[in-house]
Amino acid sequence: MTAQIINGKAISDMIREEVKAETDKLRQQGVVPGLAVVLVGEDPASKVYVGSKEKACIQLGFYSEVHRLSADTSEEDLLALIHKLNEQSTINGILVQLPLPKHINEKAVIDAISVDKDVDGFHPESVGNLVIGDDSLLPCTPAGVIELIKRAGTDIAGKHAVVIGRSNIVGKPVAMLLLRENATVTICHSRTANLKEIASQADILVAAIGRAKAIDRSYVKPGAVVIDVGINRLPDGKLAGDVDYEDCLEVSGAITPVPGGVGPMTITMLMSNTLKAAKKAHG
Ligand code: GUN
Repeated sequence: MTAQIINGKAISDMIREEVKAETDKLRQQGVVPGLAVVLVGEDPASKVYVGSKEKACIQLGFYSEVHRLSADTSEEDLLALIHKLNEQSTINGILVQLPLPKHINEKAVIDAISVDKDVDGFHPESVGNLVIGDDSLLPCTPAGVIELIKRAGTDIAGKHAVVIGRSNIVGKPVAMLLLRENATVTICHSRTANLKEIASQADILVAAIGRAKAIDRSYVKPGAVVIDVGINRLPDGKLAGDVDYEDCLEVSGAITPVPGGVGPMTITMLMSNTLKAAKKAHG
């Protein structure tokens, strides 16, 4: 058996087309979705991410503001900018690129973002809405994982989904979203005693561990859908996921590659969230 390769780039392109078509329609009603991205400091990876977000806004015809602030910006000044963006009617989504410099309290910053504009889905009220099941802005990478599973043709309801990883930005929200889709969900983590035994019972296996190639075929039930959220830099400079892709390719039913799987979905879901927030803001 050879797995179906889930092409995250192609699925992401398809969703962007859908977002663009809706955005074009909205524009005829005088509404343009607006995204503000705030970058504090000079972290090289963050700079690349912010550039990609800006490019996506241009591609889809969104209004875009990028606030590039120096690394010594005070927490007070950052909060003042967020309060201004909360009030600004041309802005529907606010994203503060993480990590922030150490002297800034990340939680205070996330808490300051208006829930209606929380396109990252990191605000405690957004997290609460996600758990309760209310309609809210969903965190981008977890929402992308669900889209990939669905658009690969997998029916989630009734399946046993195993999520490896319990971070606030991936593991926990992915587990909650799978539960919302009526999967039976098991969350595993670094202290799980019998990881292999549990993982190999999964119909849907989501790896968000942060360790290159940690999951080989012995963790995978034949025919399982394997979603790899990891991005790790190998000593030779190449990228690898948390899953040993080559080893799992034969045994799994469907699998995401790295790069080209979950990665392309994150910014696309950010755009989709911004569009959703714009539609909500304009009734
Ligand atoms: N840094 C790395 N990933 C993310 C993300 O999804 N959102 C924000 N705000 N910062 C990040």
